[in-house]
Amino acid sequence: MTGTDQKTTHFGNETIAEADKADRVHGVFTSVASKYDVMNDVMSAGIHRVWKDAMMDWLAPRDGQRLLDVAGGTGDIAIRFLRRAPGASAVVCDLTESMLASGQKRAEAEKLAERLDWVVGDAMALPFEDASFDVYTISFGIRNVTRPQDALAEAYRVLRPGGRLMVLEFSQLPNPGMQKLYDLYSLNVIPTMGKLIAGDRDSYQYLVESIRQFPDQETFAGMIRDAGFGQVKYRNLSLGVAALHSGWKL
Ligand SMILES: C[S@@+](CC[C@H](N)C(=O)[O-])C[C@H]1O[C@@H](n2cnc3c(N)ncnc32)[C@H](O)[C@@H]1O
Repeated sequence: MTGTDQKTTHFGNETIAEADKADRVHGVFTSVASKYDVMNDVMSAGIHRVWKDAMMDWLAPRDGQRLLDVAGGTGDIAIRFLRRAPGASAVVCDLTESMLASGQKRAEAEKLAERLDWVVGDAMALPFEDASFDVYTISFGIRNVTRPQDALAEAYRVLRPGGRLMVLEFSQLPNPGMQKLYDLYSLNVIPTMGKLIAGDRDSYQYLVESIRQFPDQETFAGMIRDAGFGQVKYRNLSLGVAALHSGWKL
């Protein structure tokens, strides 16, 4: 630390200067980008697909809607959204160019490229006008953002009145015994898989540690309300391993 009043934050279990976090997160996702999709399937035994489909079921995409998928990475959410609503369009915004580049290739292969834009940008300072989207999603992204409350304020700003926010994120299991078992699995198995499959233990160590730092379901629902959203509700997925939070700009 260089100054006594420098703000700090967590990067996994490390405490670092707030100003350094985005670079460190960018480093992690640049490193994992080429293996990101395959690692997601292996680490979660494919369950992340079920969670993302559950997100779409609750969101119920409609023709004519314009989606902003922030921290959208390789496009899993935007692509699902467009498949369900052939008359919708989407923008994927992410800090990491190489994640977006992988997603662009997928979208071209799926013939969705015309309805999709890919924009490099930070969730805390979105490069979009006020009230310019009908739906805002962020999936497994917000726990990586240095100041999640600022990202929620930006979500509120770019949504039009009547627009919808939906967040998919790892969460906390209400049952302490189950949480302990899950911690054992994730803290021991996932970094080892990261090393074996992606040749990168440290990035996956960060990913599992960052899950532990993220607020529980009720606390996060409160943060969404504090950003101005109404009708805030959440649903646990797989007993609370992940959760979906929904809110409306009323
Ligand atoms: C775990 S991936 C999630 C990708 C995708 N949404 C999914 O569900 O598979 C997290 C993504 O968040 C992005 N990210 C992290 N911090 C960000 C920020 N401040 N603004 C925008 N994107 C960010 C990373 O670059 C990475 O692509």
